[in-house]
Parts: sequence; structure tokens; C-alpha cells
Amino acid sequence: MAGVKIDGKVIAQSVKDRVKKAVLELKTQDINPCLATILVGENPASATYVKNKHIACEEVGIITKDHKLASNITQMELNKIIDNLNTDNSVHGILVQLPLPEQLDEFATTSRISPLKDVDGLTPHNAGLLAMKKAALVACTPSGVMEMFDFHKIDLEGKNVVLINRSNLVGKPLYHLLLEKNATVITCHSKTKNITEFCKSADIIITAVGDRNKFTLTPEMIKDGAIVIDVAISRFQEKLVGDSDYDKIIQKASFATPVPGGVGPMTVAMLLKNTITAASLSSQIGR
Ligand code: GUN
Repeated sequence: MAGVKIDGKVIAQSVKDRVKKAVLELKTQDINPCLATILVGENPASATYVKNKHIACEEVGIITKDHKLASNITQMELNKIIDNLNTDNSVHGILVQLPLPEQLDEFATTSRISPLKDVDGLTPHNAGLLAMKKAALVACTPSGVMEMFDFHKIDLEGKNVVLINRSNLVGKPLYHLLLEKNATVITCHSKTKNITEFCKSADIIITAVGDRNKFTLTPEMIKDGAIVIDVAISRFQEKLVGDSDYDKIIQKASFATPVPGGVGPMTVAMLLKNTITAASLSSQIGR
């Protein structure tokens, strides 16, 4: 029997409904939640992601400030823009869309953002808080995946989870979030030997490779009734695909996410949630 679809659009909408109410509540306290986005250069995928983030903000009543910067901007110029947003009391969240052009340093850029406005959870401060179970602002894709487990009441305690990603945006934050829920977590990556063996032993697989020429998660690689969360999205043979073929994997999995319409909408919804968290944080510290 085929498994259950974890529908990112439906779950994201439930998050957005909650955010919408929270925005109204904040407005009664004279707080107008505002997200500033920074997009450097002309990467068409990044431009689409940022545009979708703006549309979603508008849907729930979050104000946006859009900064589109030339691809040849210097680190010093970018730092100055971030510094100005850090001290702008009307801005609650700052998002620098990644990846950045080569001349810019990703770490220098993201760690320049005030931790209180770090809606991507990428500053060393917020990444450290997450590792210590004290985080308020957590990276959006990982918290979106956790929201999906919550929605379907999937108990993570004692489950063997295999992560196929070790990035600061996805794999590392997920590792900590899953550990907090008492899962046993194994992180696989490009140098891992015998990924198939790890996958076959997993109750839950969360995969985020994003290159079908390098990796495909096939039904033969999972055990019966496993849960598959496909975080990847890339273009392959003229189609948008994840690391697995949903139609095939769902025949063997107990739950799986489609691509598109799975984790993607969750990332945007959690960004909205982080923005209102940041707006409440700013009111708590009297700004
Ligand atoms: N690029 C791909 N995913 C993300 C994300 O979640 N945040 C940012 N800032 N850039 C990204």
C-alpha cells in the first residue's frame, strides 16, 4: 500500500494562518513586523526565491524592504548595508539570499547580521544557541521539516534518522533539532562510504543533495515503511526534481514529501514565523 503524502503546501498554510494572527496581535502593540531582504547579483533561481518570500510576507501582513545589489558589490559596501539594517528600528528581520558571488564571503556576511534579526539562524550566536537547546531563531528549512513531523504526529524518539547533507543551512541545524527529540542521528555526506547501507537501516531519511548526476535515492535503498523527507530541488531532464522520485518512493515509504510542493513551501512559511519571532524579540528588549 502506498504511503501518506506529506503536503508542504497544506502544512505551510497552517503555519501562515498562525503567523497572520500573530501579525495582527503585534500590530495592536504598534509593532509592524518588517523583513529586509538582500539579493546580490542576477542568479535567476535566487531572484525567484526572494520574490516568493516577498509575496508570502504580503499575504500575512509582513512589510518587506527589498535590496537588490549589483553582482560586483564589495564586501565593505555590503557590510555597510547590513550595518544600517541592523540599527534600523523599523526592520525586524534581515535575510541575505545565498549563494553570494565569489568576491563575497558567506560567513563574513551572515555573521554581520544582528543575532536578534537573524531570521535564517545562520549567525554563530544563533547556531551556538541551537546546539545548546536555547535557540529562538532556527534556520528555516530545518524548522520547516520539524513542523512537518509535528503536523503528522510522527514521534522521533528512538528513531534512526539518516541525514544526507552537512551544510550550515540544512544538515547541521537538523542534526541538533532531531537530537533534541531523542532521535539517533547519522550525518552522511559526499565522502561517506556505503550510503546505501546507512539508508537501508534508517527509519527516517532526510536527503538534500540536489544533484541527480551525483545521487538518487531509489526505493531499493530504503526499508519498507521508512519516512522520506526530500529537501532537494534541482533541474534535471527539463523537470524540477528532488533527490528521489516521489511517485516511486511513496510505494514503499510510509510517508514522503513530493518535490515541488514539499519542503519548499515550509522554508518560506518558517521565514515568516521567524520574522514575527524577531519582531517580538525586539519589543521585549524595548525597541
Ligand atoms: N539559499 C537557499 N536556501 C536559503 C535559505 O534558506 N536562506 C538564504 N538566506 N539563502 C538560501
